[in-house]
Amino acid sequence: MILETIEVGGCRSYLLGCSDTHLATVIDPEISAVERYRGLASRHGLSIRFAIDTHTHADHFSAAREIARALDAQVVMSHLSVAPYVDLRLDDGDMLLVGNLRLRAMATPGHTADSTTYIVGDHAFTGDTLLIGGTGRTDLPTGDPDKLYDSLFGRLLMLDPATQIHPAHEYKGRAGSTIGEEIASNPRLQKTGRAEFVAMMRALDIKAPTHLTEALRVNMSGKKSVAQLLAEAGAGTPFMAMSELSARLAARQNDLVVLDVREKDAYDAGHLPGARHLPRGQLELRVNETFPDPTVRIVAICEFGKISTLAAATLRSLGFMHAVALDGGMKAWREAGLAVET
Ligand SMILES: [Fe+2]
Repeated sequence: MILETIEVGGCRSYLLGCSDTHLATVIDPEISAVERYRGLASRHGLSIRFAIDTHTHADHFSAAREIARALDAQVVMSHLSVAPYVDLRLDDGDMLLVGNLRLRAMATPGHTADSTTYIVGDHAFTGDTLLIGGTGRTDLPTGDPDKLYDSLFGRLLMLDPATQIHPAHEYKGRAGSTIGEEIASNPRLQKTGRAEFVAMMRALDIKAPTHLTEALRVNMSGKKSVAQLLAEAGAGTPFMAMSELSARLAARQNDLVVLDVREKDAYDAGHLPGARHLPRGQLELRVNETFPDPTVRIVAICEFGKISTLAAATLRSLGFMHAVALDGGMKAWREAGLAVET
């Protein structure tokens, strides 16, 4: 068995491979680590066949779908997951063959309704059901402390005490733990009575994760995060450096049009010399009258350089093949002391 642990912030994900067949799965992949999974897989000569999410994550963006698409792998989740892009849905007790590795799915609801632990030999991938020195919270959508109690005390903790646990989060960099060590020292597991345990979980006052609604929305729908949307727009759009634009404006070559896509009050307060104004919100509807010539070179600018990237991508998709976005925005332009007119 080949096992690699990948850390992204407090998130832990895994690359698990069969050393005989070189088939592999990723478990709880995170969106910013996609290239790391691919790199690790090729270093070990592994072919990734599955992307497993132990549950619907509320605090980070799953990469299961991206990996499945890029590598022709299958997304695996519980039957209770609402995500529409899951290829293989598992019931409690189902087994997944990853080459010669046999991963058994054990339904362990509580942190979320779809939480599942995957067990292979003496290793358990516990998702957020059981963490090192903690448990997943139960106050987010579909969480249920009563069910977590049953999942822990009725199922997970009944595994062989030597079973190594691999959770989806670890914030203190601890290498690993076992079921036996957790039973002995995990503070949350010292409340062994149901009522006490449930009361303790209900009393926890943990702040909501930073990306809660966006992560849930994206993970439940398989659609895009705002960062992905911007990254895709940026990947399909050339940029122009502020120094390049400044030099071209100073030379009065008249070979481009600066298009300011901010709102009117921002434009009125100060814009680039000669900049045209067309707010992003009206771009599609007014672009024909504003730019009758589709060959014109348009440099889109906004306050911070993000909306202008979307605007340039929109212009390109409409057939303005010389549209670019400024690398920067009005804020950076002003701070650089470059020319502004009011
Ligand atoms: Fe979670």
